[in-house]
Amino acid sequence: MCDRLAEVSHEDYHQYAITWGAQNFREALANKQEKYMGFPIDPNKNIVVTCGSTEAMMCAMMTVCDPGDKVVVLSPFYENYGADAILSDAKPIYVPLHPPLFNFDKKELEDAFKQHPKALILCNPSNPCGKVFSEEELEYIASLAVKYDTYVITDEVYEHIVYAPYKHIYFASLPGMFERTIS
Ligand SMILES: Cc1ncc(COP(=O)(O)O)c(C=O)c1O
Repeated sequence: MCDRLAEVSHEDYHQYAITWGAQNFREALANKQEKYMGFPIDPNKNIVVTCGSTEAMMCAMMTVCDPGDKVVVLSPFYENYGADAILSDAKPIYVPLHPPLFNFDKKELEDAFKQHPKALILCNPSNPCGKVFSEEELEYIASLAVKYDTYVITDEVYEHIVYAPYKHIYFASLPGMFERTIS
């Protein structure tokens, strides 16, 4: 064992990956996301590897929110966002998605933004209601994010499970949104 240990200590991979993800893994993810998102992704600046989407959401919330900050959550919502808000000491402002199509009301959404939230959490395609947000809806959210200077934290784990005629639109791909979106 000692001889083998001496050998592997001179080989390439024998330690923990760097905290934000191994270089070759981040490069592979950047290539994949570039292909689907349609714009350049820098593996060294734009990607952090986490232990699943659950950790990613938690990190994003804790990065963006100070205790007491407000976050807009479209409801019904994936249950973890409630825990994310509690753990980062953020106050959720729930905005309903109205059945049967789970559309939001523009005025209700703007009223939430008027409370000056730090971020909006967008699950698209949405769990649990299955809604796929249209380009027009996403552009409206984007316009409010600019108007009220708000981050948008997106959970797009179901990006590849979208059926025609619907199409997944990456929120970060909308004009001006890359800089204020954590996907
Ligand atoms: C919308 C959404 N985000 C995140 C997760 C969990 O993702 P992960 O297992 O990568 O933490 C789920 C699992 O059900 C989910 O539905």
